[in-house]
Amino acid sequence: MARKSKPIFYITTPIYYVNDVPHIGHAYTTIIADALARFKKLAGYDVFFLTGTDEHGQKVEKAAAEKGLKPLELADKVVVRFKDLWEALNISYDYFIRTTEPNHEKGVQTLFKKLADKGDIYKGTYKGWYCVSNEHFLADDVPLEKEGTKICPECNIQATIIEEATYFFRLSAYAQPLLDFYAKNPNFVRPPSRMNEVVSFVRSGLKDLSITRTTVKWGIPVPGDPVHTIYVWFDALHNYLTGIGYDRNMVRFKKYWPATLHLIGKDILRFHAIFWPAFLMAAGFPPPECVYGHGWWLKDNTKMSKSRGNVLDPYAIIKPFGQDPLRYFLLREIPIGHDGNFSHEGFLHRVNSDLANDLGNLVHRTLTMIRNYFQGKIGLRENETPEDEKIREDFAGLKARVFDLYNGYAVSRALEEIWVYIGAVNKYLAENAPWKLAKDAAKRARLARVLYQAAAAIRGVSFLVYPVMPASAQKIWNYLGERGALEKHSFAELDFNGLKPGQLMMEPTPLFPRVDLKEFLAEEAKPAAPLPTPAEPNKTEGIMDYISFDEFKKMDLRVAHILKAEKVEGTQKLLKLQIDIGTEQRQIVAGIAETYKPEDLVGKKLVVIVNLKPAVIRGVESQGMLLAAVINDKAIIPFFEGDVPVGAQVK
Ligand code: MSP
Repeated sequence: MARKSKPIFYITTPIYYVNDVPHIGHAYTTIIADALARFKKLAGYDVFFLTGTDEHGQKVEKAAAEKGLKPLELADKVVVRFKDLWEALNISYDYFIRTTEPNHEKGVQTLFKKLADKGDIYKGTYKGWYCVSNEHFLADDVPLEKEGTKICPECNIQATIIEEATYFFRLSAYAQPLLDFYAKNPNFVRPPSRMNEVVSFVRSGLKDLSITRTTVKWGIPVPGDPVHTIYVWFDALHNYLTGIGYDRNMVRFKKYWPATLHLIGKDILRFHAIFWPAFLMAAGFPPPECVYGHGWWLKDNTKMSKSRGNVLDPYAIIKPFGQDPLRYFLLREIPIGHDGNFSHEGFLHRVNSDLANDLGNLVHRTLTMIRNYFQGKIGLRENETPEDEKIREDFAGLKARVFDLYNGYAVSRALEEIWVYIGAVNKYLAENAPWKLAKDAAKRARLARVLYQAAAAIRGVSFLVYPVMPASAQKIWNYLGERGALEKHSFAELDFNGLKPGQLMMEPTPLFPRVDLKEFLAEEAKPAAPLPTPAEPNKTEGIMDYISFDEFKKMDLRVAHILKAEKVEGTQKLLKLQIDIGTEQRQIVAGIAETYKPEDLVGKKLVVIVNLKPAVIRGVESQGMLLAAVINDKAIIPFFEGDVPVGAQVK
């Protein structure tokens, strides 16, 4: 019998300009997209998540010249900054597209030619006010200043007059088809208020659009007329097609197009809600299902942007707090669609109260009690009383509501609901006071029920927060003794009683660090890390290759405890070790059999790099690496003496 294919969810972020390094605003769009992509996977969808960089055009050309670089050299540097940030934020994109990729360039030329052959692109002359920063011509109704110039209303920068031979896209012919399309698809633009904005713009009339430049060298050449380069927006929008294989892997392209959701900032709504569906109609492709224009992060009540110089470096938050508090804050603080003002105090307050106090303490208290009173395993429990039943039933209601909210892209509301439930579980614990029950041997079954209820609620909560805080959710999942990746489970199968009785739970380490406000505010004063300047001669060449402290900090070194050791069959040197790293059990393979007998290793504590990419060694998976000195080809492991807690960080 043929397997039923999964429904498709194709989500995109805008592709970011490479004229400067990423800031919180870019991180925001990408984090929303990641949370929705992760949710849809749990909901059983076949997800494709595309992000990338917009590398052509005058803005990049100019920024590169200012830095003494070629445009592609600048792009190569900045792309690394984007990719590193996405890794630091745990972004699970499926493909990162660069518009300088030959596949993309070829695809755009094919589409340009297709539209030209059809008569929707024609040659003419254009004269108009052009904003280099935003890469677009100003609308006619932008007023002249006293000096006879025009200022771009979006970025406050003076525009310049451009007159040139150009190719036009016949946008005027698509005004009516667009209006018909909007009428039939009222959810095409969200939030709804933005739909009205788009409709009235189109109703006021559309002029043909200049889509090539002769003044800009850094762009894709027009096929057959290479003195013209293709306008950066025509080029960029088509990434949504080439990124899933247009003109190269048509099977994949047909599988995922039309996109389910283009997530964008409200600043680029017109390009996505007017030009883009018109280009697609001209090419004979259906428009995307939805363009969602989210609000802006402001600093001191103005939009964070490079041209205003008020951007916030995401690492100023990630370094002291880790990735999940930033993900949580950005998604919790404002509904998608509203603007939000970023303040360090506001951030710290939310992290301390929601994450450290409400969720962090709940997990810590509950698991510590289960370890202390039941050696980590809850066995026989008393039957549910009405208040226990309420905790279970409320979870079922919560699960259904959170599903609908995530599904409707209302992430902030979903989190709000989850935190109401966390509050109720904290209250339940306070009222049932398991620490008092523990003093009375006759109340052990009751104690077990209360702690089981709390642990089952925590398990459910960890699943529900996973799209927003994937790493913390996975940690909690493992603390509860669940094996494997949380993302392998589905929303449909999630059940309060899915927590198996008798499962061994771990000792938790604090989930969310507390950071001192003063220290944190000092970070705010620091400017974002600049781009590396052109390479200087390496002064230490021949002595030692230094790595930066940041590079060192990427390594997660932990105290691990060896639970089991055995030889890897068919090898002389390899041992397979089962180790406890505090949060979970891992397997590692190490070339130490010539120095150590398996039985001598069990019970020893040593240092392991736990965030090394897993590798398969002689057919056996190794999920980390131990540290050892290698003397005359033999490994000598430094073991810890005394009472060192398992899972402690080594730094
Ligand atoms: N390259 C174009 C997009 C082409 S898509 C086919 C572009 N790039 S951008 O780097 O300037 O900005 C892209 C997006 O970054 C914005 O649409 C928005 O999603 C996000 N943000 C940039 N600054 C922002 C804030 N201050 N706040 C929230 N998001 C913002 O435009």
